[in-house]
Amino acid sequence: MCGIVGAVSERDVQGILLEGLRRLEYRGYDSAGMAILSQDGTVNRVRELGKVAALAELIESAPPKGHVGIAHTRWATHGEPSRLNAHPHMSGDRLALVHNGIIENYQELRDELKSAGFEFTSQTDTEVVAHLIEQLYRATADLTSAVKQATGRLRGAYALAVVHADEPDRLIVCREGSPLVIGVGIGENFIASDQLALLPVTDRFMFLDEGDIADIRKDKITIWDRDDNVVDRPTSRFEHAADAADKGEYRHFMLKEIYEQPTVIKATMEGRITDTRVLEQALGTEAGKLLENVRHVQIIACGTSYHAGMVARYWIEDLAGVPCSVEVASEFRYRKHVIQPDTLFLCISQSGETADTLAALRQAKKAGFRAALAICNVAGSSLVRESDLVIMTQAGPEIGVASTKAFTTQLTALLLFSIALARHNGLSSEREAELVTAMRLLPGQVSAALALDKEIAELSREFMDKHHSLFLGRGTLFPVALEGALKLKEISYIHAEAYPAGELKHGPLALVDSEMPVVTVAPNNDMLEKLKSNLEEVRARGGQLFVFADGQSALKNEEGVHVVHIAEVHPVTAPIVYTIPLQLLSYHVAVLKGTDVDQPRNLAKSVTVE
Ligand code: G6P
Repeated sequence: MCGIVGAVSERDVQGILLEGLRRLEYRGYDSAGMAILSQDGTVNRVRELGKVAALAELIESAPPKGHVGIAHTRWATHGEPSRLNAHPHMSGDRLALVHNGIIENYQELRDELKSAGFEFTSQTDTEVVAHLIEQLYRATADLTSAVKQATGRLRGAYALAVVHADEPDRLIVCREGSPLVIGVGIGENFIASDQLALLPVTDRFMFLDEGDIADIRKDKITIWDRDDNVVDRPTSRFEHAADAADKGEYRHFMLKEIYEQPTVIKATMEGRITDTRVLEQALGTEAGKLLENVRHVQIIACGTSYHAGMVARYWIEDLAGVPCSVEVASEFRYRKHVIQPDTLFLCISQSGETADTLAALRQAKKAGFRAALAICNVAGSSLVRESDLVIMTQAGPEIGVASTKAFTTQLTALLLFSIALARHNGLSSEREAELVTAMRLLPGQVSAALALDKEIAELSREFMDKHHSLFLGRGTLFPVALEGALKLKEISYIHAEAYPAGELKHGPLALVDSEMPVVTVAPNNDMLEKLKSNLEEVRARGGQLFVFADGQSALKNEEGVHVVHIAEVHPVTAPIVYTIPLQLLSYHVAVLKGTDVDQPRNLAKSVTVE
């Protein structure tokens, strides 16, 4: 949560910081601020409640000038969203700091610093760090040493960027548990929570390791590791086109990202399949060795990525015959588990920075799992760097807070993985060829589902004034129903719950009446007949049914039943295709309701705190 950006340059940095904040806004957007070291030797800090646009408006008439600065967009954890709690936080009038993460021992430090005479003006955990560094700076008169010593006192997760008016040529950063990249320029250097923030100014990046501290000057970067050794971190080029962070012709990023799915699903398969086979090597040079003796798979993820994991469980057990468990990371990390021998630990995360998922991975690495595999969308993320094997999804940057293309590319990668694992467990080459052929059809089938956009937009009117809704599916389509309900909740604020359709009669049926739309995903698979009976149960109680169904399913529009026909798809790839209409439905409902589609209230794209 929260986005930080900083710059050390020969030019005024205010514009760079503001654009960086706009690009980081998906991480949090309840307040924003920046601090710039002015030429007259003072710190010029501006903060505003609300979105980055509010900060931009505030400084429009008199933009702060200076060549070194830091900025922040906040997602509140300690203390309500307010101007006083907004970052940067200062100690006195010379030191300013921005922070992403959580300082767990902040209360203890706060008491200690208060006794030492420091005055607090906010309720945040961050202000404690500002005072702590200032206290150490008074003793050392060196900002790097002060930050190094301060990190020894901090518990929790953080990425910090600090400036001091007494050291006007530099910016000190460090990270422990929260993301931070250095953008390498010519005669100027930058830092940010992710690469996207800096694309207008550079495409060369260095990734800090956990525990690293860096001194950033305009023509020099020095990095120390946690043991205080000076280290080199490799520089790499950003791999996606710079315009990936622009909306283009679309009204919202979410819509753009929904429409990108045929392309990014194809890109995720590219180089990894032939006409008839999955190329195991393309999943990683060690893939063959790692998959050979896998007897069990433990999947861990959060949010939408968790739903991808739930679909994968069906594939792994059905195709590979390997037992698979799926759990949300925030639960997994806080309980004792029994680890079956030769269990592969599989983390799914779009960002690769989700705090709970990373914590679960770190625990698992100590606990005796066979190996850790990551499905991730961000190269260079913590998850990627800490896993033994990685399958990158090729979704490109996803900006809309509600995940769309990341989900379907995760499913694509998971299906490739399931087939590769299945080959080690007796999958016949005929069946493999059948599955790969089905996968190759996906980009076209997803495009066909997108062509239903108008029809779905029309249907969305029926949801506009509703307060509750129910989503039903069976088999692999149950997690798809969960994902559809999550999308509707996230962006339209309509209460939506998903149930495996067979559970309807065990409770939710009591809720069904004409005010409760029931959305069902019904491909032509072996569960269809059972699902039809469930639909009858709803109809008999006056419920309004909205069914996304295969043309062959014999489901027809009639009183109380609205059917949208989806072209025929292979049962194994159906969850990917049937996700599309549910994304479009939630998008159109949100647009009709006038919510903030790309940045829904109270949520953040990347949850790097607990
Ligand atoms: C947040 C986002 C969700 C995402 C979840 C997990 O809640 O709003 O869209 O699914 O985090 O994120 P990850 O990056 O680990 O997939």
